[in-house]
Amino acid sequence: MTQSKLPNVGTTIFAVMSGLAEEHGAINLSQGFPDFSPSEKLISMVNRYMERGYNQYSPPMGHPKLRQAISQKTENDYGVYFDPDKEITVTSGATEALFCAITAFTNPGDEIIIFEPAYDSYVPAIELSGGIPVPIELSYPDFSVDWDQVKQKISAKTKMLIINNPHNPTGAILDEADLNTLAEIAESNDLKVISDEVYEHIVFDGKTHQTVLGNESLRARSLFIASLGKTFHATGWKVGYCIAPEELSREFRKIHQFVTFCTHTPTQLGYADFIQNRKEYLDLPTYYEKRRNKFLSLIKGSRFEWSPAGGTYFQLLSYKGISEEKDVDFAKKLTVENGIASIPISVFFSSRKDEKVLRFCFAKKDETLERAAEIICQI
Ligand SMILES: Cc1ncc(COP(=O)(O)O)c(C=O)c1O
Repeated sequence: MTQSKLPNVGTTIFAVMSGLAEEHGAINLSQGFPDFSPSEKLISMVNRYMERGYNQYSPPMGHPKLRQAISQKTENDYGVYFDPDKEITVTSGATEALFCAITAFTNPGDEIIIFEPAYDSYVPAIELSGGIPVPIELSYPDFSVDWDQVKQKISAKTKMLIINNPHNPTGAILDEADLNTLAEIAESNDLKVISDEVYEHIVFDGKTHQTVLGNESLRARSLFIASLGKTFHATGWKVGYCIAPEELSREFRKIHQFVTFCTHTPTQLGYADFIQNRKEYLDLPTYYEKRRNKFLSLIKGSRFEWSPAGGTYFQLLSYKGISEEKDVDFAKKLTVENGIASIPISVFFSSRKDEKVLRFCFAKKDETLERAAEIICQI
């Protein structure tokens, strides 16, 4: 009999809920992707590179033009320079970058601290390397981090912390004080940090995104991971990147070259041109804040409760006042009987902690949000 290397892993909840939504013709606010297209200009740039013959392998660390453009973008956004040859690696989505970062720095028996609810790719990657995920549970409604609890969880075996800011699935964001405390903890315990910042450009209410790249101490020990798919509404193209000091990037690249060798060349070149125009992403907070506000004003009369997401394109809704059912059952029922698909939050906790909360993606067209809200108000 085959012995599974991931005995606890089944089909991801995203595939389950999207499949159920399709089967029952439900409005799909479950999976995190927009139902509108990327910029026409970006599409034609990628097309042009394909037509002009840029269809073969590019260097494994990423096409030089894109690494150069990412270096410039990062300097413009966060005021810090990174060497495109030594510190920036283009990956096939943030998912691949996360896998390579975790694999490169997790040895058997190492403890890796994660914050739950946690994006679902972290734990399997840690376990495949023989590491031990050490979850710290965050709680509804604000999901803030109790750093004293983090200190208590650190042992001689702790090697790394994985943070996700802005946070999926909760929409919570870390502030400058959080990052300063994290820096102190990481430095005094000599820990590495993987910082999943795929929603770096989706922060609301006038707040500024706090990146590990902006903190000198964290910058020296962190792997920063970004997703061009999230920022430019093209999740299916799977382009992301990792920024890390040379020593960490060297180890990261050893794994990356054998996971994928390189990322889709014409798409890299299209992005290299496109991301130089900062306007294409600096409007994102306003754009998504409008969508969040529209969604929340449309469901004002519903029986759900919420506090507005601070970032990302997800809104949590609590159904405590509506039903006692388990969140997985309730989410499935809403999909099959009411025609709206969401993601239950308990699946992102190792303990399956169920706070009766569902996640809804509001990266959707007006008409999708209007139809969704109509249903939500009838529940
Ligand atoms: C927190 C988080 N990290 C990583 C990813 C993966 O990003 P990509 O599509 O670039 O692989 C996602 C996608 O939903 C995410 O929400």
